[in-house]
Amino acid sequence: MSSAATSPATAAAAAAPPDLPIAPVLKDRVALVFGAGSSGPGWGNGKATAVTFARAGARVVCIDIDGAAAEETRGLITAEGHRAEAAVCDVTHSAQIKALVDDVAARLGRIDVLHNNVGITVMGGILEESEESFKRVLDINLTSAFLTAKHTLPHMLARGKGAIVNVSSVAAIRYSYPYPSYQASKAGLNQLTMSIALQYAKQGIRANAIMPGMMDTPLIYKQIVGQYDSAEAMRAARAAKTPMGRQGSAWDIANAALFLASDAAAYITGVSLPVDGGLTCLAI
Ligand SMILES: NC(=O)c1ccc[n+]([C@@H]2O[C@H](COP(=O)([O-])OP(=O)(O)OC[C@H]3O[C@@H](n4cnc5c(N)ncnc54)[C@H](O)[C@@H]3O)[C@@H](O)[C@H]2O)c1
Repeated sequence: MSSAATSPATAAAAAAPPDLPIAPVLKDRVALVFGAGSSGPGWGNGKATAVTFARAGARVVCIDIDGAAAEETRGLITAEGHRAEAAVCDVTHSAQIKALVDDVAARLGRIDVLHNNVGITVMGGILEESEESFKRVLDINLTSAFLTAKHTLPHMLARGKGAIVNVSSVAAIRYSYPYPSYQASKAGLNQLTMSIALQYAKQGIRANAIMPGMMDTPLIYKQIVGQYDSAEAMRAARAAKTPMGRQGSAWDIANAALFLASDAAAYITGVSLPVDGGLTCLAI
C-alpha cells in the first residue's frame, strides 16, 4: 500500500542540513532567491539554498508566489540570526519582477546574486499535454529566467559584478519521464544560461546552471509520485537508477548553488553542472 500521505514529511525531515561549516563567502551580499519556498513540508531546493546563502552571510530576499512559503523560509533564516526578507512575486509576471527587483536595489543598494529555482513538471507526452500546458511550463521554467535576468542585469552591470544561478535539471540532457515540456524548458534554460554568460563575460557577470538529478525533495511527492505505485517504489527506483545508489537532497543543490554564487567560482561561467550522483555519466 502506498504511504505517500506520510512519506514526504519523513523523507524531507531526513534531509537534515549537513554538518558542514559554511564560510562567510557571501558576507553582506544581496541575494534574490526566486522560488524560495517549498511545495511541501521539509526541505526543497530553493528553501535550502536560501538558508545556505544566509548562513554564508548574504542578505536573502526569499521570493515566492506563495506568500506563506516565502515567509516560512524567511522565519527560518532570521530565527538563526541571519538576515532575510520575504516577498510575493509571480515569475511569469514581468512587471511584478521589475517592481520587486528595482525596490530591492533601491533599498539595499545592490544585487549580487540572482538564483532562479522556480520549476514545475507536468507529466504527459506530446499527445496528452495541451498547448496551454506546454506554454505554461515554458513560461514558468524558462521565460521566468529570461525575465528575472532582464530586470536584474541592469543593476549588476551598473556595479560591474553579479552571479546568476539557474536551477535546470538532468532532464535538459537526458530522458527521464514523459514530460516534453519540462525537458524542452530545461534544455532552453541551459542555453539561456550560456547565452547570458558569454554576452556579459567581460562585464563581471557570471551565469551558471545546476542540473539536479534524483533529489528527494517535497516536489517529487506531488509531481513525480504518480509515475510509480507508491512513494516507496518511487524512492527505491530513483535511488536504484543513480550510480551512487541513493537520491540526493536539497542541501546538495544548495551547496552547489553557494559555490557558483560565490567568488570561489570566479573563473566559472556558462557551465551546466550536474549534481546527480553520477547519473549523467551512465552509459545507455
Ligand atoms: N526534486 C528533484 O528531483 C529535481 C530534479 C531536477 C530539477 N529540479 C528542479 O528544482 C527546482 C525546484 O526545487 P524545489 O525543491 O525548491 O521545488 P518546490 O516546488 O519545493 O519549490 C519551488 C517553489 O517555487 C514556487 N513557485 C511556483 N510557481 C511560481 C511562480 N510562478 N512564481 C514564483 N514562485 C513560484 C512554489 O510556490 C514553491 O515554493 C525546479 O526548478 C525543478 O525543476 C528538481
